[in-house]
Amino acid sequence: MLVYRASGPNDTRRLGEALGKLLGPGDVVCLDGRLGAGKTVFVQGVAAGMGVRGRVTSPTFTIIHEHPGRVPLYHIDAYRLDGAPDAATVGIEDYVYGSGAVAIEWPERIRELLPEERLDVEIMMPADGDGGREDARGHRSGGRRVGGNESESDGESESDSEGEGEGEDVSEGECGDESDSEDEGASDHTREIVFSPRGERFRRMVEELRALAGPGD
Ligand SMILES: Nc1ncnc2c1ncn2[C@@H]1O[C@H](COP(=O)(O)OP(=O)(O)OP(=O)(O)O)[C@@H](O)[C@H]1O
Ligand SMILES: [Mg+2]
Repeated sequence: MLVYRASGPNDTRRLGEALGKLLGPGDVVCLDGRLGAGKTVFVQGVAAGMGVRGRVTSPTFTIIHEHPGRVPLYHIDAYRLDGAPDAATVGIEDYVYGSGAVAIEWPERIRELLPEERLDVEIMMPADGDGGREDARGHRSGGRRVGGNESESDGESESDSEGEGEGEDVSEGECGDESDSEDEGASDHTREIVFSPRGERFRRMVEELRALAGPGD
């Protein structure tokens, strides 16, 4: 397991980009996290890392977007699917077991179809975390601002335009200790991004990611 703290969308994108550089044909990445957590933002980074050109938007209604690149990227949003039979109607399996790399938002909707070997990525928002993980690592990102995260996605209200995404450096810095300096504005934009590899290929990939993106939090 590898954990990073992203202090804004750019951090999340940069992590996705680092991962995208490592993905090859047949790789499956599952993105967990609630509405507005940043799954699509992460996939935008993945696409950039894979050399995809053009905009990457949410396939919420179309369910699948195909992006040509070094390897094709299939971006799936399973939110509107209800189990395997439903998924079959849009041919999900052809993508999941196809020759592209696959990024799946809301993977639990098609749990039965997921390969055992895959990379699970969980994006946690400040309020999510008041549980195990942070404690284990001694960080309490959620604690800082527990009440305020309704407005999660876009923290316009947070006033400090500087605080979040624009902080460009991620590659190693994101898991920073800059936290203290930005206590007020940053927390709505803070995400914990947890990489859990399933199977040997993805264990190795996560080690490569660590080399690319830094040691994590
Ligand atoms: N650290 C961060 N990482 C990613 N996105 C962030 C971060 N901080 C703030 N945001 C904002 O949160 C929103 C995330 O939107 P995004 O569409 O990626 O979420 P999602 O998880 O795909 O949601 P959905 O479940 O609806 O598909 C964006 O508006 C983004 O600017
Ligand atoms: Mg999305």
